[in-house]
Amino acid sequence: MPVDLSNGKPLAWDSAKLDADTTAMLDNLQPNILQAHVRESMSLLLVHFGDGPDGRRFLRSLVPLMKSARKHLEEVRDFNRTKKSGTPYVGVGISKIGYLKLGHSTTRFTDNAFKSGMKRRKDTLSDPAVSAWEKHYQEEIHAIVLIGDATPEPVAATRARVLALLPKTAKIVGEEKGEGLRDAQGRGIEHFGYVDGRSQPLFLADQVAAESGTNWNPFFPLSHVLVSDPLAPHPARHFGSYLVLRKLEQNVRAFREAEEALADALGLKGDDRPLAGAMLVGRFRNGTPLRLHGKPSSEGHPVQNDFSYRDDPGAKCPVGAHIRKANPRDSRDGGLERALGVMMARRGQTYGGRTDRPWDDAPAATRPTGGVGLLFMAFNASLQSQFEFTQQTWADNPDFPAEGTGHDPVIGQGKRDAKVRYPKAWDSTKLSAPQRQVPQTVTMKGGEYFFMPSLAYLKSL
Ligand code: HEM
Repeated sequence: MPVDLSNGKPLAWDSAKLDADTTAMLDNLQPNILQAHVRESMSLLLVHFGDGPDGRRFLRSLVPLMKSARKHLEEVRDFNRTKKSGTPYVGVGISKIGYLKLGHSTTRFTDNAFKSGMKRRKDTLSDPAVSAWEKHYQEEIHAIVLIGDATPEPVAATRARVLALLPKTAKIVGEEKGEGLRDAQGRGIEHFGYVDGRSQPLFLADQVAAESGTNWNPFFPLSHVLVSDPLAPHPARHFGSYLVLRKLEQNVRAFREAEEALADALGLKGDDRPLAGAMLVGRFRNGTPLRLHGKPSSEGHPVQNDFSYRDDPGAKCPVGAHIRKANPRDSRDGGLERALGVMMARRGQTYGGRTDRPWDDAPAATRPTGGVGLLFMAFNASLQSQFEFTQQTWADNPDFPAEGTGHDPVIGQGKRDAKVRYPKAWDSTKLSAPQRQVPQTVTMKGGEYFFMPSLAYLKSL
């Protein structure tokens, strides 16, 4: 039976009744797409091929270091039962120019953003000029090798094995190192100090069962992340996913100053001051959703995610908050964005070391102004209608969801000249006087679009 990407039920991946095509799909799909792989420590190698046939041999030689999605899911299941740790993650993505260099035609890829490459989409995304990107992103990047694990040692060992396979005609044009950041309770956070990576589309039956809720349905069909691999031996059984990679530098000091200035402008005092930052993000630093609570709550273990914005016109969570702009949670047009399939599988990792404690209240002046940020990564079935749509049509659009909302305070790009009004207090329909938008504190330093092909394709090279 052909794999049904639009199936309205989560995939029971370990069911004995799985059909042959779905089995082949899982045995040939790369890990980290359907379920996040542990990647507390990461190395991203950006590769340039001088010679196509050498490039093909290199990619094929990586297959023994890689595992399938099924193997990964089995490792996760075993870890949950016995705490037995799994093997390192090795992922491979190929850019449009990478495919051309390898000697393929790309006509069978349907995503126009992928076929253009990120450099040529900079106007669509209001990105900085390519000449302002970090040098390695200005070069032609043909492939990316992602290596991740829970600790640095297996990553270093696997990285050495990958580099030993690199032919003389290829070079590493750049490398990114991801290092997970955690708060005092061990929750994963980003550099502004907020819990991150919590809300995800879930595709698998065991994941969906573990996340019960009545307000927000986290289940999404496979059609959100998988597309047929057009160059694989059996495209009906072999699947891949489009990866967006963007290096987003965070000016933590400027963001903290913006939080303080907003708290002052709204007259927030004492324990109420963190409300200002929460109005920008949509959650308090410990992940408490503003939609549910007006103060950081200790209820959330795991961090709460069962909420929608129905019945909240913006009195609790401002409509311009990052998480509300980036996912309106079916609250608009009867859930049109769910039908359009916008939600992508975010798999980013923080980069850059810190000596301060990102989650505490130390003064803004003690915070880094650069050198730290997010290696934003997400898997998409369509870069255009998922990542690009979110960035361009929602985050960069000051009139989404309503006129005068302002840019996404965290990731919005473009001139911020709208004036924004915030609720005067949590759950208040009284609005503040118009405020200048918070400044842009996240800067795109470069990136690329890749396709993560099936293992069957890599073996066929
Ligand atoms: C959620 C921060 C970049 C899309 C979140 C959350 C935080 C956060 C703290 C809440 C945790 C969660 O619900 O998982 C940041 C920072 C970024 C960044 C600091 C850049 C440095 C992006 C980008 C996009 C994006 C580039 C897409 C274009 C989303 C989405 C959610 C989210 C879709 C989940 C919203 C939900 O379902 O409720 N982000 N983010 N983020 N972010 Fe970002």
